[in-house]
Amino acid sequence: MRLYFERSIMMISKETQISIYWFSGTGNSLLIAQRIKDNLSAKDYSVSLFPIEKAKTAEIKTDNVTGFVIPVAMFGTYPFLWDFFNDLPETNGTQCFLVDTLQGYSGGLLGPVKKILKKKGYRTLAAVEIKMPNAFLKPRENKEKDQQIINSGLTEADKFCDVLINEQHSWFDIPFYSDLLSLGSRSKSVYNLYRAMFPLSISKEKCTACKTCVVLCPIKNWKLDDSSSIPVSDNRCNLCQRCIAYCPEKAIKIGKNETVQYKAMPFKELNKYLKNKML
Ligand SMILES: Cc1cc2nc3c(=O)[nH]c(=O)nc-3n(C[C@H](O)[C@H](O)[C@H](O)COP(=O)(O)O)c2cc1C
Repeated sequence: MRLYFERSIMMISKETQISIYWFSGTGNSLLIAQRIKDNLSAKDYSVSLFPIEKAKTAEIKTDNVTGFVIPVAMFGTYPFLWDFFNDLPETNGTQCFLVDTLQGYSGGLLGPVKKILKKKGYRTLAAVEIKMPNAFLKPRENKEKDQQIINSGLTEADKFCDVLINEQHSWFDIPFYSDLLSLGSRSKSVYNLYRAMFPLSISKEKCTACKTCVVLCPIKNWKLDDSSSIPVSDNRCNLCQRCIAYCPEKAIKIGKNETVQYKAMPFKELNKYLKNKML
């Protein structure tokens, strides 16, 4: 766990609702968001989880403490998550916190997100990065090792809850290089390059047109011409891996080499949290 320091002393009152906005491609970030909710709820805080892809930014309540739990991607995060942060409403000191999940190095994502939130008037309380299993171009399966990493990640989430409620808040201003590194995921043209480097493909032999990918894609990149056809990628993919992780036929592939499917939780669990706008 790496904490970034900007000390602030601010009480999170038990009377204030805590809304956590989450996105998760393969389930890692949702596991962490669930853990934070369970931990704080057990301490009598009132916590709700909202999927970012279903959130209407104009309707976001600015009188709640607001948490964000998101994955790191390409030393930043997914383009549609940058859009989400940029579209958040202006606030008058809404207390917020940020958790990112990552495999190794985020490029300092917490810094540029903090800048956006501060500009919007948020009071940026605390942020943390939590290591979780790799979800991208996984060459082979190692369920035991992944489970160990998940267990450590959940422990880090518990520690972060202690930080939050014990008022030891910290969110470091990350130097300029974090803005520079995050540009790759913020720039539409660089992301086009990533799409070209890691092309998405679907096997006509394996696909049963079950529409799971169509339903699960957070940006509606998969299109169906008619109900029996094989979905077609609209070339707007953000590379979040959700369709690859949850395709029941393992028919979707990214990149040129063979990879294994990874998901941190079963489809039913993810879908339960996606279906209910608020849990
Ligand atoms: C397209 C893509 C890019 C990624 N880039 C990074 C990265 O730059 N640094 C890193 O530490 N992890 C990176 N990861 C790993 C994810 O951040 C990590 O597995 C995360 O926990 C996935 O969360 P999710 O299951 O909630 O989507 C990347 C994963 C994907 C799919």
